Amino acid sequence: MKKIITVAGARPNFMKIAPIDRAFKNFAPEYEHLIVHTGQHYDDIMSKSFFKILDISEPAYHLNVGSGSHAVQTAKVMIEFEKVCIEEKPDLVIVVGDVNSTVACAITAKKLHIPVAHIEAGLRSFDMAMPEEINRKITDSISNIAFLTEPSGKANLLKEGWESKNMHLVGNTMIDSLCYIMPQLEKSDILEKLNLSEPFAILTMHRPSNVDDREQLTSLVNILEQTAKKINLVFPIHPRTKAKINEFGLSKFLEVNGITFCDALNYLDFMTLLNNSKFVLTDSGGIQEEAAFLRKPCVTLRENTERPITCKTGSNILVGNDSDKIINAVNNAISSDGNNIAAVSDLWDGKAAERIVKIIIDMENNL
Ligand code: UD1
Repeated sequence: MKKIITVAGARPNFMKIAPIDRAFKNFAPEYEHLIVHTGQHYDDIMSKSFFKILDISEPAYHLNVGSGSHAVQTAKVMIEFEKVCIEEKPDLVIVVGDVNSTVACAITAKKLHIPVAHIEAGLRSFDMAMPEEINRKITDSISNIAFLTEPSGKANLLKEGWESKNMHLVGNTMIDSLCYIMPQLEKSDILEKLNLSEPFAILTMHRPSNVDDREQLTSLVNILEQTAKKINLVFPIHPRTKAKINEFGLSKFLEVNGITFCDALNYLDFMTLLNNSKFVLTDSGGIQEEAAFLRKPCVTLRENTERPITCKTGSNILVGNDSDKIINAVNNAISSDGNNIAAVSDLWDGKAAERIVKIIIDMENNL
């Protein structure tokens, strides 16, 4: 029997591990697949709801690390995950994405001589001011196997000294989850609940570079107020953003006309909104991919992206915090019928996790 541990910690991890968990079920009991939840995100809406909606197995371990500074959070995950690795002696640790839990568990496993597989490897924004870029680079530099979502990942890892034989372009497990949930979207009542009439656009914003700086957040808030005069916006607010809006005395923004505010949403409700939206304004990484897959225009409130394939399809445009660029992109998105947006990749087909698990099992003797 082989034992595999997959780690999940924060909201954007859960949809990436769900199809991996499902795919390993076909190989039980020869393969024991354990989920470790670090507890980086802990609220029902940021965590538990995803397990329920995506039918993810109950984690074998909850590390309950909670919020904290980067150092505190990363260190706490390492301390707790080391105990799990020593107890369980897994043959492989799988980490996904680029959050603090990803890098913490990769380092911990590697120092115990446990091989590490990184799903969503090789993505680079080339912006070391982003905590996620640091996490991505460190995780990739010590991983044994890289599973790639897009060709840029391979080019980046080759430049960083990886050998082709250890890299596998498999597609996107986050899109696997989107394919899984699509037939269930009609179960969501979020459109009625928020009393939304179409057309509307979705807004999400939580990146430290946009919301942690008073001047930057104030400027974005002003631009968004202007945007809301052109099209209704729905803004599910991340806890970090809500706290900063209040801290910087911008709470009047939460009453502005043309913007429907709500708390962070569960996966089913968010995907229902996205699927019915005209376009999306975001600083998220994953939403750029989800929008591209659904062939929606995506106006990205960042200067760079680690997911360049989303720009190549014609879905995504990077506008930073430049008000002229934002207004221009919003005008184009309002008048777009989506026909100019190409499909992302044949590999974004809902079956990436099956490919990943097959590769891991084929490599069994090397584990
Ligand atoms: C983290 C990830 C980011 C990802 C984002 C998605 C890192 C470095 N960043 O950023 O890549 O895009 O998750 O959400 O790992 N909080 C709650 N409830 C929770 C979790 C957090 O209220 O369940 C609040 C806390 O006040 C916390 C703040 O949100 O301080 C930020 O959470 P944290 O995990 O530190 O970073 P995110 O901004 O969520």
